[in-house]
Amino acid sequence: MRIVLVGPPGAGKGTQAAFLAQNLSIPHISTGDLFRANISQGTELGKQAKSYMDAGQLVPDEVTIGMAKDRMEQPDAVNGFLLDGFPRNVSQAEALDVALKTDDVKLDAVLDLEVPEDEVVKRIAGRRICRNDSAHVFHVAYKQPKTEGVCDICGGELYQRDDDKEETVRKRLEVYHTQTEPIIGYYREQGLVKTISALGKVEEVTARAMEALGR
Ligand code: AP5
Ligand code: ZN
Repeated sequence: MRIVLVGPPGAGKGTQAAFLAQNLSIPHISTGDLFRANISQGTELGKQAKSYMDAGQLVPDEVTIGMAKDRMEQPDAVNGFLLDGFPRNVSQAEALDVALKTDDVKLDAVLDLEVPEDEVVKRIAGRRICRNDSAHVFHVAYKQPKTEGVCDICGGELYQRDDDKEETVRKRLEVYHTQTEPIIGYYREQGLVKTISALGKVEEVTARAMEALGR
């Protein structure tokens, strides 16, 4: 299956993607995680991305589209993938359509996670992620690690993302509404959008998502 996951910052895209990718045996491709990995490795791409991310702005398409396409061309993504955080504006969605058309394949669904803004703010404020892998995600109240400050998965140190500070979060929400939400209309015209509530327990949301995907 080829799926796009969309939703505001803190909706739980990364959290759900981990389970959905496993259930569906497809790779989880997060452009945010790819940027963070580049930043921690000190690559040129990471350096280019960091200032935009810290300001809550989108990284320019010239950088992002190439990086996402390179990842989608890896052997593990030949038969499907779960995209998390890409596309994030209409021109990225158009670039993805062109890439898929070249390969003569299509998206199966766009899963839209709906969650009220006050809940998003609570989820982001308490989020802690692992220094070793930003896909290892915890929450100080909703998903506590067994030992405070330590990743259950790899033992790495947990910290708060630089862009999870209140002012940056506000900017990210604004960018979501103005630049990312329009892709929902774009995909609705293609009949691909499945909207589900992202409220409730993590496993309840996963069950809703699997049902929406017909699985
Ligand atoms: P990115 O990393 O994609 O961030 P985001 O979209 O803002 O999403 P988040 O990672 O904040 O949230 P999430 O929905 O994954 O929530 P999570 O599962 O962690 O992007 C970061 C930046 O990179 C962007 O601002 C931009 O600069 C750049 N970027 C990335 N892609 C780009 C692109 N395509 N183009 C240009 N720039 C790009 O959950 C949040 C918290 O809630 C966690 O603590 C979790 O434990 C908890 N939680 C999850 N589910 C539940 C639940 N059901 N109940 C209670 N708590 C829950
Ligand atoms: Zn870890």
